[in-house]
Amino acid sequence: MRAESAAELFLARFGGMPDGVWLAPGRANLMGEHTDYNGGFVLPFALSQATTAAAARRRGGRLLLCSRQEPGGVLEIALDGLAPGTVTGWAAYPAGVAWALRSAGYRVPGACIAIDSDVPTGAGLSSSAALECATALALTELDGAAVPRDELAAIARRAENEFVGVPSGIMDQSASLLSQAGHALLLDCRSLDRSQVPFDPAAAGSRLLLINTRARHDLSDGGYGRRRAECEEAARLLGISSLRDLTDAADTARLADPVLRRRARHVVTDDHRVLQVTGLLRGSGRPDTYREIGRLLTQAHSSLRDDFEISWPEADVAVEAALAAGALGARMMGGGFGGCVLALVPETAGGPVRGAITEAFARHGWTVPEFLDAAPSDHARQLALQLVAHRREGGTSAGT
Ligand code: GLA
Repeated sequence: MRAESAAELFLARFGGMPDGVWLAPGRANLMGEHTDYNGGFVLPFALSQATTAAAARRRGGRLLLCSRQEPGGVLEIALDGLAPGTVTGWAAYPAGVAWALRSAGYRVPGACIAIDSDVPTGAGLSSSAALECATALALTELDGAAVPRDELAAIARRAENEFVGVPSGIMDQSASLLSQAGHALLLDCRSLDRSQVPFDPAAAGSRLLLINTRARHDLSDGGYGRRRAECEEAARLLGISSLRDLTDAADTARLADPVLRRRARHVVTDDHRVLQVTGLLRGSGRPDTYREIGRLLTQAHSSLRDDFEISWPEADVAVEAALAAGALGARMMGGGFGGCVLALVPETAGGPVRGAITEAFARHGWTVPEFLDAAPSDHARQLALQLVAHRREGGTSAGT
């Protein structure tokens, strides 16, 4: 259905059928926040919520872009004039990908692209990475280029860092392009070594619940960049190239500044927690595996709240209410200052946990939160388009 709905949007906006539809998922992160740009470890997974790009080649060296979620018509962007700062708003993400691909030496064809997405924006679920990765796959595969996925992740990240101007790490694009269903992706963000870690909470009678607190999260509002700068400063003062090199939390005592000490302590302890969770998941069959993972999630929340200081009131309340109602563990997720909480919940406690959080939000007079299931899903890919192939026999492709 997703492919057909994407193709219909394309037809409505561009008056023809796309050559293909590509999908890239949003992501959740089981463990490891603000560790990626410190050269550390992360353990994200792809969500079933995703962005589609229905696309067709088009002569004339221009990108024609539209999105079901964005008001306004079709935007037209000349590929030759692309440079950071030339495109703003949502279109900066796909335009940035075209720019980064060209900078990496890939030919980017002129194209019409229609975007559709069910990844909530501003919720810390990497709607930006999903948009970048769907566009990156569409533009390269339209041209018949098979770019290695880790290279494509680096290109999409470059688009976000240099074209859009957001100083994010490599986690989100990697999760979108490299995850496997039923697994979390263990990524060493320094060496880029990666492995798939079997992760099936449902088989163990639990589920992961995402609570969108509705406090909007924006990586470009300064808080994220400040944390990144603090981590770099802490590493510089410690005489190491990145906080990844800190393997013992006790070594943070060498930092005189208590704020930098707390920041560094979060990074080193979260790196440890990623490896602990990985060990637990790989140690299969232990009855208390998920209870222990839950405990680490809650520990990570305290670290993000007290040491890294990026939690927000709605997240703290959601975590407390979830734990009181029977969650095995919960923590804020992503860049911080807004977005989602991730809770590990036994099947039997799903209703009570949702009810307790909804009530707690009502007591504070906050907007009702949104609940989403976080099922470890598959990476970005081209979708099969039987219906469109059939229709195209009698129709025409857009723009050619
Ligand atoms: C955002 C960034 C990621 C990562 C997380 C925090 O999602 O895009 O690179 O730094 O925040 O873990």
